[in-house]
Amino acid sequence: MSELLAVKNLCKDGILKKISFTVEDGEMVAVMGPSGSGKSTLLYQVFGMDRPDSGEVWLEGTEVCGLSEDERARLRLTRMGFVFQQMNMLKNLNLLDNIMLPACRLSRGRAAGREAADRARRLMETMGIGELARRRITEVSGGQLQRACICRSLINRPKILLADEPTGALNQSAAREVMEEFTRLNREGTTVLMVTHDSRVAARCGRILYLLDGSIRGEFSPAGGAEQREEALGRWLAEMGW
Ligand SMILES: Nc1ncnc2c1ncn2[C@@H]1O[C@H](COP(=O)(O)OP(=O)(O)O)[C@@H](O)[C@H]1O
Ligand SMILES: [Mg+2]
Repeated sequence: MSELLAVKNLCKDGILKKISFTVEDGEMVAVMGPSGSGKSTLLYQVFGMDRPDSGEVWLEGTEVCGLSEDERARLRLTRMGFVFQQMNMLKNLNLLDNIMLPACRLSRGRAAGREAADRARRLMETMGIGELARRRITEVSGGQLQRACICRSLINRPKILLADEPTGALNQSAAREVMEEFTRLNREGTTVLMVTHDSRVAARCGRILYLLDGSIRGEFSPAGGAEQREEALGRWLAEMGW
């Protein structure tokens, strides 16, 4: 595996204190830690939505923080996907149009639009929401909406998918379904960095980073079957003071 993402000595407003870690191509990494520990802030710096006070974020040989606003916007559109906790989709568009939006921002024209629509439909099929293309976001369940958000984050074929508590607003069975999609995407080669509060979700990741008070306090790689992984992670989290 090769290094896809490298975060070096990232500092932000006293919220992030010299955070350093790397993510290899093909990994699925979880970030855990108490509320207010800086998890969302960390993801925003990685995504280039915000600029750190100091430190570097390298994505495939490009240093993100030093880029101009426009360059970062383009990098976000072409190389990264982000699944937000608040599932921010536009209320007056149907699911299909919401999913296509990042593709339409990247390339205009009829042919590009048709291609984006085809890709969006295929993503919706694989995510099990193929029949919901024309529904509005108020006309689907939380789990279906979050799956649509994942489709949208994937529309431009990102190298890395960032997700901020993607199962946080879902009931257990919807959370399990959404997590199965992440696991499948990761098996198929998408690198994933996700924040989660749910140790069952995190136990499915290859590696877990523990963030406390703006610093990474430890990392853990669970091994074995699902149950063993959950138990081992539970013990480690208890040691961390979770
Ligand atoms: N826009 C902001 N302005 C000022 N402080 C903020 C802002 N966003 C978050 N914070 C503060 O930064 C800290 C970390 O927040 P956050 O990254 O959202 O933590 P987490 O995602 O781990 O819950 C918190 O103390 C929070 O109150
Ligand atoms: Mg958060």
